[in-house]
Amino acid sequence: MKQVTYNGLTFEPYIEKDKIAARISELAEVIKRDCEGTLPLFICVLNGAFPFASDLFRAVDMDAEITFIRLKSYEGMGSTGVVKEVLGLGENIKDRTVIVVEDIVDTGNTIHKLVNDLKKLEPASVKIATLLFKPESLQCDVKPDYVGFAIPPKFIIGYGLDLDGLARNLSDIYVLKEQHD
Ligand code: IMP
Ligand code: MG
Repeated sequence: MKQVTYNGLTFEPYIEKDKIAARISELAEVIKRDCEGTLPLFICVLNGAFPFASDLFRAVDMDAEITFIRLKSYEGMGSTGVVKEVLGLGENIKDRTVIVVEDIVDTGNTIHKLVNDLKKLEPASVKIATLLFKPESLQCDVKPDYVGFAIPPKFIIGYGLDLDGLARNLSDIYVLKEQHD
């Protein structure tokens, strides 16, 4: 795997697609076990979570439903701290087993606001599945239930994660290369 460049920034390979796939299989097993006897509703947080949600949803081989919500709090490489809901939820989630699927939990602002909003709709339970988690960046009282990889607070792209809209279609995950001059 080679380095990639977007907007003049260089990124190097970080987590390969085979490793992502293997970890998703493990998470799916746990989720399947935890959701036994229910019809879980997966809520994919667009845009970034779409590849993860697609792979996870298919790996959890039980009856389940999926829907989508669109939120945005990031501009460039920093969290704006303000979470805007762009596309709302159509489904009735009362008494449902809900699994929110995120690409990454960074400051936690996005997921914190979303989970609080969802809880007002009286679901049976709300759990958070995130492919990536930066525990050192966390600023909110949230704890993801299913974590693919805990990583240091570095900027990453690929497999849904973007730099100003680019790089979401990379199959592997890349990290911003340290600058040495
Ligand atoms: P939070 O609200 O700070 O937890 O940020 C969550 C959102 O910020 C994620 O859903 C991503 O869209 C974006 N984000 C956080 N860290 C990164 C990163 O390293 N690369 C790309 N996007 C990121
Ligand atoms: Mg996102």
